[in-house]
Amino acid sequence: MSAIISLIGSKGGTGKTTLAHLLCFGLGLMGRKAVCVLTDPGRLPPPHGALPYVSADGRDAQARQRILTTLRSREGWVGVVDGGANRLATDMEMYRLSDLVLLPFRDSQEDLRVVCEDLKRLPNALALPTQWPSNPWQFGAAQRLLETVPAELQGRVLAPVFALSCSKQLLQHPQPSVVPTSLRKLSQAFAFQMLGLLEADRTRLNAAQTALGASRRLEDMMENAPASVV
Ligand SMILES: Nc1ncnc2c1ncn2[C@@H]1O[C@H](COP(=O)(O)OP(=O)(O)OP(=O)(O)O)[C@@H](O)[C@H]1O
Ligand SMILES: [Mg+2]
Repeated sequence: MSAIISLIGSKGGTGKTTLAHLLCFGLGLMGRKAVCVLTDPGRLPPPHGALPYVSADGRDAQARQRILTTLRSREGWVGVVDGGANRLATDMEMYRLSDLVLLPFRDSQEDLRVVCEDLKRLPNALALPTQWPSNPWQFGAAQRLLETVPAELQGRVLAPVFALSCSKQLLQHPQPSVVPTSLRKLSQAFAFQMLGLLEADRTRLNAAQTALGASRRLEDMMENAPASVV
């Protein structure tokens, strides 16, 4: 069976395109067959290069349909759909045909407000904190922001993908043939997280899969850190 994972959401600039490529790259590094499907008509054709995944141009609705139908008919592929902001109809189309729907958001009140609205509108989707700060103090502040998410939605907020400036290299035309180790590691960790979710019961995520569970792990690390770090 093939699988389709969509990165969508009402807010622009949250990291959908970067995450789509990050995920495909990570899947490719893990030996999985992945195709990144661009769907935003306002964007240039998808980047291509020597990285271990395929990019497909699904900006036109018919082309998108063809790509996704072909994908469904093939064994073992993962299709990762890169959505565009403010496209409710396309978001709904992707929501209906995907196995996993991710709503990326950054650590701002406005992103959080919009993603909570999207979570209510799309009851099977999961929110994905992204471009998340890894500095312990900024991380703490971002996690406190997450604590303001209504209780009934908190179990649908995933463990974060951290900010990594070199992630933009994946969107270069053409893509680089050699990428930094930090980017390879982040991509693989993200792909591993998403493959686990595809197989998980997503109505009952465990603490380690959610943002507030991840927060507790970081707090443990800080408590046990040498005095010179804290
Ligand atoms: N994990 C990350 N670490 C650092 N920067 C990131 C990360 N993810 C995305 N960015 C940066 O955030 C900006 C927006 O990212 P991106 O273009 O992927 O968002 P988008 O949701 O696809 O935007 P749009 O809604 O316009 O399609 C870019 O400058 C990108 O390099
Ligand atoms: Mg984009």
